[in-house]
Amino acid sequence: NTRFNIAIDGPAGAGKSTVARHVARKLGYIYIDTGAMYRAVALHMLEQGIRPSEPSKAKQAMKDIRIELLPGEDGQRVLLNGLDVTRQIRTPEISLMASQFAQHEDVREQLVAMQRELATKKGIVMDGRDIGTIVLPSAEFKWFLTASVDERAKRRYAELKDKSEVTLEQLKHEIAERDRQDENRVISPLRQAEDALLLDTTHMSIDEIVELMVKETLSRI
Ligand code: C5P
Repeated sequence: NTRFNIAIDGPAGAGKSTVARHVARKLGYIYIDTGAMYRAVALHMLEQGIRPSEPSKAKQAMKDIRIELLPGEDGQRVLLNGLDVTRQIRTPEISLMASQFAQHEDVREQLVAMQRELATKKGIVMDGRDIGTIVLPSAEFKWFLTASVDERAKRRYAELKDKSEVTLEQLKHEIAERDRQDENRVISPLRQAEDALLLDTTHMSIDEIVELMVKETLSRI
């Protein structure tokens, strides 16, 4: 029974996490949402009153942070120092802060080490921004998912509209701002790995994307 690692990267709202979760379930793999880790870091910093412009305080605060990812009913539960923060990390404020703290070298080093550790046993579907390039450069499958900003904002909106007060305009703005930060940062910027397959999902349904990925994976086993 051959087990692979599958890396899924792309900009905010491209459908990565939904797709990754379904692909993992169909293959009997474990799904790891690395964005949730950066979000948990952002929440930790917010609680400690540390701003993204304070790298030495942030470095210190990284020493007493414990992040756990647990399988849950619909998706993954995120624990920060033992407390369930699954819902709390899904606000626009945390999204932008996560993207800012994700520029810090110490933050990335610590999270990347954790992510590599989680992937050593294979059979992992991991999504993020730098999985194919930095975290798991030798992953057997690498995908880069994109979609237009409008489409990505619409998808996020559909996901969040019952859970939060956020408007479509706000989401569009937040997503464009995060794209800009994630693509232009110095360390591990968002980019497609040379050996990644590019998939523009603007006109694809989640089911179509999942089916394509599962088919590709099974064809190589
Ligand atoms: O994927 P998600 O939108 O939850 O990620 C939140 C933020 O965390 C991203 O905007 C990005 O700045 C950062 N991130 C990252 N590297 C990853 C995953 C997320 O820099 N592998």
